[in-house]
Amino acid sequence: MSPTGVTDPRWWRHAVIYQVYVRSFADGDGDGIGDLPGIRSRLDHLARLGVDALWITPFYPSPMADGGYDVADYRDVDPTFGTLDDARGLVADAHALGLRVIVDIVPNHTSAAHPWFQQALTAAPGSPERGRYLFRPGRGDGPPNDWESVFGGPAWTRVEDGEWYLHLFDSSQPDVDWSTPEVRTEYLAVLRFWLDLGVDGFRIDVAHGLVKAEGLPDAGDSDQHGVADTQRLPYFDQEGVHEIYRSWRAVLDSYSPPRVAVAEAWTRDAARTARYVRPDELHQAFNFHYLRADWSAAGLRAVIVDTLAATSPVGAPATWVLSNHDVQRHVTRYGDGPLGLRRARAALLLTLALPGSVYLYQGEELGLPEVLDLPESALQDPIWRRSGFTERGRDGCRVPIPWTREGSALGFGPTGSRPWLPQPEGWSDLSVQAQTGDPASLLELYRTALRLRRDVTPEADLEWLESGPELLVFRHGNLGCAVNFGATAQVTVSGPLLLTSEQCEVDGVKLLLPQDTAAWWSIP
Ligand code: GLC
Repeated sequence: MSPTGVTDPRWWRHAVIYQVYVRSFADGDGDGIGDLPGIRSRLDHLARLGVDALWITPFYPSPMADGGYDVADYRDVDPTFGTLDDARGLVADAHALGLRVIVDIVPNHTSAAHPWFQQALTAAPGSPERGRYLFRPGRGDGPPNDWESVFGGPAWTRVEDGEWYLHLFDSSQPDVDWSTPEVRTEYLAVLRFWLDLGVDGFRIDVAHGLVKAEGLPDAGDSDQHGVADTQRLPYFDQEGVHEIYRSWRAVLDSYSPPRVAVAEAWTRDAARTARYVRPDELHQAFNFHYLRADWSAAGLRAVIVDTLAATSPVGAPATWVLSNHDVQRHVTRYGDGPLGLRRARAALLLTLALPGSVYLYQGEELGLPEVLDLPESALQDPIWRRSGFTERGRDGCRVPIPWTREGSALGFGPTGSRPWLPQPEGWSDLSVQAQTGDPASLLELYRTALRLRRDVTPEADLEWLESGPELLVFRHGNLGCAVNFGATAQVTVSGPLLLTSEQCEVDGVKLLLPQDTAAWWSIP
């Protein structure tokens, strides 16, 4: 066994990694907010589900203006979430179960409560303290340029002496200046801190944002985040970020076994994303093009083809993701209710059949829908406030997990506790307890599919088989997969049927696949 409790250094190339949104996973102390002891108490769920690793969202000291993505101290644990000893214990428990642990690093911005920013506020314009951030004089009475915050409103806030500082997110999340050598050194030290504590890797927040275009030129658009998918913005996906990740890779490779990193990089296309996973850069990047594709054969096929074409020349594995803590849950995106659930079942078999690595988001294995009707008084996402109370933001995909049928928090926290966001009526039937042992449940489909996926030839190429406009049929090593988006269709299966997302009729090699259904068969 290696120091991280597992042996294969290439594990990440075909791993299934489960995202834990710490505030909403499990609440150990009953304050209504998830925490590290809570995660420890529920690791058996992840082991039984059959995933390889968990990625835990930020648990560092933070004023929680953005759910912890506003970090005030990169080397500690917020008291709401536990202690450094809890973090060590969590890593040890996970490793003992054969699960790796990936933690989040937030290098684009700190919290305004971080000592560096507090020092910058009291220091003079032009001082080294201000040089760790992007302070600039305004243009006339206005901000230095036209950049917009991702959360709404301008990306600049003015301080008392008249200078402005940049914040691509909330005004309490000032962007740091990556052209300052001290900034680079500090984050390398933060990486080492967590690697020395035993983590297996990092998820890099806003990995595409660290470097801004020289001179901070105007973006020239008044709906910058509406066009971010098609247009190049002067603050995202700049060439200079790659040099930073080369230096990070050297640190990751200096550990034995080497540790890994995955980029949160929203880019225009698969080819731009692949630039983050060149051999001397990061290991993986999230495939947001897959997440954004509609439920259609043509749309998903195009993303799969583009992804594989872009990643294979750089030697990186593709990744696949359907949901995370920033987007509407996919059961809802795919049509909500029974239709959304049926498509989510088929989407699971499609996703797990693809070559590469898969990211799951907590609660998707239960088929949790987006909660669209949270009371306004409960909303905490800064998007709600910064949009002038017009956009509800991302709280609807962050509602605490139902574990049990009973209890005031459905097992999320101890009986008597109240979760920080209310769980909807009816979620008791979606709980882990309610679905366990029910062969028709989504949870049992996840467990079975993840178990079967372990036998799929790793690193095999995808080969498209017979197809029609509404049908995706392919082979990945010893696994055959078909997904039907249109009216019932006949598919030829070249080996024993392994699993279907709905009941199907099969007669020898002829499989009748109903609409929004997927099937797996084994290929000898
Ligand atoms: C990333 C996170 C998101 C956060 C933002 C700012 O996009 O996933 O939750 O709000 O970065 O840190």
